[in-house]
Amino acid sequence: MEEKRILCIGLVCLDIINVVDRYPEEDSDTRCLSQRWQRGGNASNSSTVLSLLGVPCSFMGSLAPSRVADFIIDDFESRGIESCNVVWQSKGVTPCACCIVNMLNGSRTVVLADTNLPDVTAEDFEKVNLSNYKWIHWEARNASEQVKMIQQVEHYNASVSSDQKITISVEIEKPREDLYQMFSYGEVVFVSKEVARDFGYESACAAVKGLYSRVKKGAYLICPWADKGADAVGPDGIIVHSDAFSPEVVVDTLGAGDTFNACVICALSRGQSLQEALVFGCQIAGKKCGVHGYDGIV
Ligand code: ADP
Ligand code: FRU
Repeated sequence: MEEKRILCIGLVCLDIINVVDRYPEEDSDTRCLSQRWQRGGNASNSSTVLSLLGVPCSFMGSLAPSRVADFIIDDFESRGIESCNVVWQSKGVTPCACCIVNMLNGSRTVVLADTNLPDVTAEDFEKVNLSNYKWIHWEARNASEQVKMIQQVEHYNASVSSDQKITISVEIEKPREDLYQMFSYGEVVFVSKEVARDFGYESACAAVKGLYSRVKKGAYLICPWADKGADAVGPDGIIVHSDAFSPEVVVDTLGAGDTFNACVICALSRGQSLQEALVFGCQIAGKKCGVHGYDGIV
């Protein structure tokens, strides 16, 4: 039997990345050092890293037929990521982002044209053959539909033996009230520093302590915090921490969080401890910050 896969659900977009040696002045006309197209979107980036880690994986999200979508599908293929769960929408445009990566400090500034493309629905999700997956990761977007998808998985889990159950993880990255219902779903919840700040927390440790009451009984809550590393807590209440692993020079932090999430999911799915998973996440995310794109980080 084929090895079960990890499925990532969320945004896929085109990132048009402009690498600059200093952040441009408003209303100036400058040249970038280089420009490239890269498949982007949190869930899509995490699938890239899972694939680099040798994990069979699949992506589910929306696309509208176009040359941009052809580029994206080719890229999934070249990375060995299964794209059969992509939903082709008849309305809307595949989103593109203009990204400025500043070589001076590795900062990434993203202007996303998040268009009118509908997100995948619980009805679309009914067509997924759940028996192919051991882990499903949701990037919180259309939360009420995503909750219905998670409930489908919970229902499935209740009908299979424990070795066939699907682990559920969720990432809450955008500080939006409607996404906060996702805290109470899944065995693993990633929360960003932007969301943590939205709740008034100024460190990863304070955030995981303060937000833990929102997650499901027994779940892990994990919060990465850029060059401060990451903290997490599980049902035993012990806070675990990993420092960041800073590369010699930080050149490109675009997708660092998505890399971190993928590495933590990979480590936990392989039976490693929460502490080991955090360290692994920070190590590879740190390496990612030292290179452009994802090649060479594993
Ligand atoms: P996002 O890319 O979503 O904003 P974070 O900035 O929190 O996510 O970063 C995620 C992880 O990437 C951090 O936990 C850390 O391990 C790593 N990381 C991010 N920025 C740096 C940096 N400047 N130096 C070293 N590691 C970093
Ligand atoms: C990085 C990223 C980019 C994309 C943007 C969307 O985390 O997924 O690839 O343009 O964020 O918010």
